[in-house]
Amino acid sequence: MEGVHVVSHPLVQHKLTLMRDKSRSTKGFRQLLHEIGMLLCYEVTRDLPTEKIEVETPLGKTMQPIIAGKKLTFAPILRAGMGFLDGMLELVPSARVAHIGLYRDPKTLVAVEYYFKAPSDVHERLVIVTDPMLATGNSASAALDRLKERGCKDIRFVCLLAAPEGVAKLRADHPDVEIWTAAIDDHLNDHGYIVPGLGDAGDRMYGTK
Ligand code: URA
Repeated sequence: MEGVHVVSHPLVQHKLTLMRDKSRSTKGFRQLLHEIGMLLCYEVTRDLPTEKIEVETPLGKTMQPIIAGKKLTFAPILRAGMGFLDGMLELVPSARVAHIGLYRDPKTLVAVEYYFKAPSDVHERLVIVTDPMLATGNSASAALDRLKERGCKDIRFVCLLAAPEGVAKLRADHPDVEIWTAAIDDHLNDHGYIVPGLGDAGDRMYGTK
């Protein structure tokens, strides 16, 4: 599917399978989300542009690559998107963070915004939006709308699991935003949950159910 990257790396698939298990503890679930966050971060940053700088090794001067341009911004959609953040920051410690507070109205499944805080120059940076579950696509699409209102032009979306419905909505609403996911599952149920999925990612991360 154009603009959709399914990360088939065995480590990612193995960890995702462990996360789906309903008997996985809160601690285990959160740890696995952290680890997959790092692996997905590696994939989503694979083609970042580099530039050469001079560095002096103990044996002499040499021109070697570093990542070019402004520091990137991670933008977790609260609350489940936070599950990826620490792992991603371990790989890219100087990244900025934009928090996007959205919840799904349980009846209408429409995204309702309650918080938005981003770096003032976020429009000059690559923004990597994170949410483990791309279900209806309503929250993801609303988050991208909000970032674009702030002038962001270079945005990528990272999730753990996607429903075909969510992928279709996000690609239709925001064709310029590519998606990285560990898997695309079968369908959404009547309550907007991904099937077979892994349940409510936020509840499983924080032990709130
Ligand atoms: N959000 C979740 O946490 N899980 C789903 O299956 C769908 C949306």
